[in-house]
This record gives sequence, C-alpha cells and structure tokens, in this order.
Amino acid sequence: MLKGTKILLGISGGIAAYKSVFLIRLLIKAGAEVKVVVTKNALQFVTKVTLETISKNKVYDDLFGIYNDYSTEHISLTDWADLFIVAPATANIIGKFANGIADDTLSTSLLAFNKSIYIIPAMNSKMYDNFSVKKNISYLKENNILFINPVVGDLACGYVGDGKMEEPENIISYIEKNLKSKLLFKGKRVLITAGPTYEAIDAVRFIGNHSSGLMGFALAEAFAKYGAEVNLVTGPVSLTIDNALVKRYNVVSAREMYDKCIELSSNSDIIVMSAAVADYTVINPSETKFKKSEKSLTLKLEPTQDILFELGSKKKKGQLLVGFALETNDEIKNAVKKLNNKNLDFIVLNSLNDKNAGFKYSTNKISIINKEGITKFELKNKQEVAFDIINFIKEHYL
Ligand code: CTP
Repeated sequence: MLKGTKILLGISGGIAAYKSVFLIRLLIKAGAEVKVVVTKNALQFVTKVTLETISKNKVYDDLFGIYNDYSTEHISLTDWADLFIVAPATANIIGKFANGIADDTLSTSLLAFNKSIYIIPAMNSKMYDNFSVKKNISYLKENNILFINPVVGDLACGYVGDGKMEEPENIISYIEKNLKSKLLFKGKRVLITAGPTYEAIDAVRFIGNHSSGLMGFALAEAFAKYGAEVNLVTGPVSLTIDNALVKRYNVVSAREMYDKCIELSSNSDIIVMSAAVADYTVINPSETKFKKSEKSLTLKLEPTQDILFELGSKKKKGQLLVGFALETNDEIKNAVKKLNNKNLDFIVLNSLNDKNAGFKYSTNKISIINKEGITKFELKNKQEVAFDIINFIKEHYL
C-alpha cells in the first residue's frame, strides 16, 4: 500500500523520537520514500546522522540555514510529499499547528501542507489530558487532521498513563488501512441531496421546513473521504463544505432540486436523497410582497414532483438508490411502502419520536430497511451515521 509513497516525517522533541528511527525503517521497508523534518529539540533525542543514514536523505532542521538549497524549502518539501506524519508530536507542535504558528521548519511545513496529515502524539499523560492540549487536538480533528492516539504504558517521566506513542508497526498498519479505505469509492460518482426546499409565497415569504442539511453534508464529506466524486445538491442551509471531491449545487425550490437531480442522475453510480423536499408548492406565487388586510388569506398549493420516485422509475442497472424517511407514526410500515413505491435499494428511517434524532439535531438514530430486513443503529452524531450508511453500502452492495 505504501509502495512509492513519498512521506514527510516530522519529529518533535520527545523521548519517543528514538522510535521514529524504527518507523523510518519500516516505512522504507514498505516501499515508501522518507524525508525527515526535525525541530531543534528533536535533535536532543536523536541525531541528524542517524536520521540521514536511515532515511538515506538529507534531514531538514533549519528554515534559513546556510546549507539550505533555497529558502522556500518547506514549500518544495511539502509539494514533494504525498503524506505528512508527525511522530512523536509534542504538546508544543500540536499547539503551534492548531494556532497557525510557523516559527521553525516543522511548524512551517505543517501549515504549507494541504494533503493528509497524521499526528501521533507522545507526552506526559497529564499534559495529554490538559484542557488546552485537548482543545487543540479536537480543533485539528475537526479540520480533518488524522490522529493516532497514544496508548497507556510506562512514560519516561516515571508515570504510567495515557501518553505513550503508538508502536511503529501499528502506526503503519493504521496508515495503510486508512489509505485503503480512501480507495473504497474511488471512481464512483455519488449524488446527494441535502437540506430543505423553500416554496415562494410572494417576493419575501416562503413555505419551508426545519431541515438543517447536516445529514446530507455529513454524507457528502464521508463519501469524499472514501474517494468518491460527490455532487451535492442542497437547499438553503447555513453550512459550508470544503472538499475538492465535493461539487456543491445550491437550489431553492423543489422544482430547482428536481431539475438539478435529473440532470446529474444519469451519470451517478450512487444516489442518496436526504433532502426534505416540499411536497406542495404555491400556485402562482406573487412577484410582489402581499399587503396585510383584514381578510383571511388562502394559499392554493399543488403537489411537487417526487424526485426520488422519478429517479426510481428511471433507475439504471447497477445504480444504487437510497431514500430517507422521516416518520411520526407507523414508521416501519410507511418506510417499507416508500422503499417499494420508489424502487429503492434501501431506505434510511428516522423517527421523530426518537429523542435528539432527526431535524435540527446534530445526532440521529436510524434504521436501515431493505428487502432483506431491518438493521437498527444507536443514537450517534450525524458524521458517524454517515459512516454507518457507507459501511452498509460496502457490506451489502459493493
Ligand atoms: N423526496 C423527493 N421528492 C419529493 C419528496 C420526497 O425526492 N418531492 C424524497 C426525500 O428526499 C426522501 C424520500 O423521498 O428521500 C421520502 O421523503 P418523505 O418526505 O419522508 O416522504 P414523502 O414521499 O414525501 O411522503 P410523506 O411526506 O407523505 O411521508
């Protein structure tokens, strides 16, 4: 898996730096090419000669050193590498990275790197447990930086605790597993709908619903993480997505969502419709703002087109079609009806009766129903739910 991979290995100043020598050895044995960037403190624990001998490459430790090839070496190095591993990562380098500080070669290179970064912390367990370190780690995780957590063991400071750097063999198998998962949906085109639709009443008012779009956006991120090319058609939401594999199309009404989905569907291998599409739209909405009057106001509505039904009737061989159902009563019966009527491969059911699940919440409790039966899941955050759905596809349909 690592054959031919160009790896930048950052080493910061912790006793676990000696293990990084083994890590370099194993990476090279696995077929990778390794270049090393160290902090000044790392060189207190392991020598430059050792690292250069093992990596068979020059070691980078000085942003402005007289022996540098040129002063923008951190850029050429980061352009060169496919992935960046920092092992061991001290509280200091994690703190610098999380706060955008670039005051040496390693911290500068981290900020200049825009591909996969794996951080492998090693520190005293009390430091690892410190609120500030925790905050930095969770901020980096939120920004898609991967962590291989420390393990419990004897620490150099005499403590036994959670702070020991993971063993090089395990680091490699984690990275290999992660790289493999990235290929799961490579070459697959996925169409996802998200959020509500707004049906205009007049120039300023609309009929909408409480859908946040979180579930659809989490699905788009998750599919992209596994290498898929995603088209995300979303109604009005306040969410952002920053992923080169996700193409976002903003729509407002059910009609606009229908048009975009029909356009993109024939080219899609997997279609997941998580949007809460309006079932009715206003006939002839006013182009100007309605004026208040004493009289009651009657709006005339007509049904919208059911996008999912339409896609089900046009479903191509090999295309996977997934719907969502949000129900308040007779949940399973209603969901099964939608599964059959709309010609779906499976339907994701969430019930409004489950606490903290569905619209407006960041968590969801789903059941997946297909022809074979029902699979129930616990209440989880929507990112985890997205991965459950992807795993279900992997296990049943790939
Ligand atoms: N859906 C759609 N187009 C519509 C309405 C719904 O594509 N005009 C899709 C939703 O995105 C969802 C599935 O159909 O994946 C089920 O939506 P839901 O609102 O639960 O069901 P409806 O078919 O609209 O039926 P009802 O509202 O009566 O429960």
